[in-house]
Amino acid sequence: MEGLDQAKLNAAVKACEFLKSNFNFIGIIGLGTGSTIKKFINVCKDLLENKIIVPSSFDTAIYLVNMGYSNIRDPITARSVDVYIDGADEVSEKLDMVKGRGGAFLREKSIALRAKTRVYVIDHSKFTGKPYLYLKPIPIEVIPAALPVVLDGVKSLGNVEAVLRMDSSKDGPVVTDNGNFIIDLRFTSPILEPAVMHERIKRIHGVVETGIFPSFLVDYVVVGYPDKTVLLQRGA
Ligand code: 5RP
Repeated sequence: MEGLDQAKLNAAVKACEFLKSNFNFIGIIGLGTGSTIKKFINVCKDLLENKIIVPSSFDTAIYLVNMGYSNIRDPITARSVDVYIDGADEVSEKLDMVKGRGGAFLREKSIALRAKTRVYVIDHSKFTGKPYLYLKPIPIEVIPAALPVVLDGVKSLGNVEAVLRMDSSKDGPVVTDNGNFIIDLRFTSPILEPAVMHERIKRIHGVVETGIFPSFLVDYVVVGYPDKTVLLQRGA
């Protein structure tokens, strides 16, 4: 197995052990989206089997169904979840994060917001150890009809290139599970205050959500390496 793949697997195994040994009761579990979460689903079957699962995307829901799970609940009916587990694309020293490579960040954030505890599983390439965000573009989900307004509005953020995310399997832009477009914002300088930047972007008409997950949405991050794991806790 290639290094990063092994690192993701190690993080998934550790997260599963951590949940089993530290949480007496998990009735409802929210699941994010992506390759690391799929590894978690594969290695943590005994935990998932008798829980209600709230998936954050069509992709995760279909994956679960294909694996034989029927204990799945739509986010619209889940007032809260006991634990939310997800991947991420960039994690800073302060545990601010960027998510959204898979385009599912709107529903992911919606479930993270209603979770009592949030645990993220990443391979080591995503943990920068820096006190700011800089590595990945910031995705924003936008209402299609407002596209020109958003493209104008993001100019107020400073030196940023806005790229409409295109679909590789059909002509035209990516359309999210919510029927919206995604614009990737490539900033030319680090984002020193992610929560402030998130609020600034959200004020632009037509922006539904950003891929910035400020650290208040993060309780634990399990970082996987090819030969070990490290558990990070917000505020520790
Ligand atoms: C999807 C996401 C994913 O959680 C993130 O991209 C990590 O994916 P992977 O585990 O495949 O590296 O934010 O919207």
